[in-house]
Amino acid sequence: MKAIREQLIKKLVKGDFLSGQILGEELGVSRAAISKHIAALQEMGFDVFSVTGKGYRLAQPIELLNEASILTHLEKHNVTTKVEVHSLIDSTNSYLMRRLPNQNVPGQVCIAEYQSSGRGRRGRRWISPFGSHIYMSMYWYLEQGMSAAMGLSVVAALAVSDAIKALYQVEVELKWPNDIYFNGVKLAGILIDLEGQAMEPCHCVIGIGLNIKMPAKSAELVDQPWTDLSSAIGVDVDRNKLAAYIISALLKRLKAHRETGINTMVSQWQTLDFYLNKPVTLITGQKATRGICRGINAQGALMLEVNGQVGPVYGGEVSLRAGL
Ligand code: BTN
Repeated sequence: MKAIREQLIKKLVKGDFLSGQILGEELGVSRAAISKHIAALQEMGFDVFSVTGKGYRLAQPIELLNEASILTHLEKHNVTTKVEVHSLIDSTNSYLMRRLPNQNVPGQVCIAEYQSSGRGRRGRRWISPFGSHIYMSMYWYLEQGMSAAMGLSVVAALAVSDAIKALYQVEVELKWPNDIYFNGVKLAGILIDLEGQAMEPCHCVIGIGLNIKMPAKSAELVDQPWTDLSSAIGVDVDRNKLAAYIISALLKRLKAHRETGINTMVSQWQTLDFYLNKPVTLITGQKATRGICRGINAQGALMLEVNGQVGPVYGGEVSLRAGL
């Protein structure tokens, strides 16, 4: 089923009208089956329409993610790493996690056009319409063990910021622990999955979901205020180029993190910290703690001032809101 849908996508992205009859003959299925597959692809956000007597065609031309193109851009950054591009996948994070313990190499990337079970933080869904955004995960091996994993959120958020700044000369805002904002609303999120024993080296999968061009139908499903890069900066985004910039920036920062932790990144975070010195409410399960955000420490923990005392708050199932 997946194979047929992937072949249909490949044929339709060329941009011509294709009849259901011919598509069925070429793919070895009935015309009715093609119609069902097309309906399923439309549900996924693949913007195809039909005209009686002519067949199916894409509403707008789309530039698909392409491994060769990403690798060519990476070469310009002198970066070589393994990049797998998937058309349809459940979740790029889950895919790399399934390949543990030894089918991934550090720095390996999985990127997809569509996720059927994209995962956000705190058990939320990450709406992942076809061909619209960046859904990307990188495998990393953390010698220092799980205690260093909190720094990875800082590393990943700064890497996304580096890439957007280098390509489009704009600054994003960072919201501890894992969000990237633009003009006060969410542009991207980071999800880090870990596997290993406490006190031992561990496997990490760093997932990045970056909104590029939100289809109207998907926008209705997103349960938090959002923006996307195309409308935020008013340009057409080349996802292959941007993905390569993110991969390159992430690898650079992960290597720095391996050598020296996030020491040098704390002040960089501070300059982009959306809540720095502002009143916030920290939500931990049912509990709400009010305080003032005082940035992060060298472990990547939030420094929260409560009743005049500043102390670290470690990640996990927590979130920050504006205001007291
Ligand atoms: C969040 O803000 O809640 C985190 C969102 C992370 C989404 C990305 S998309 C690529 C990777 N695969 C997933 O299933 N989730 C992450």
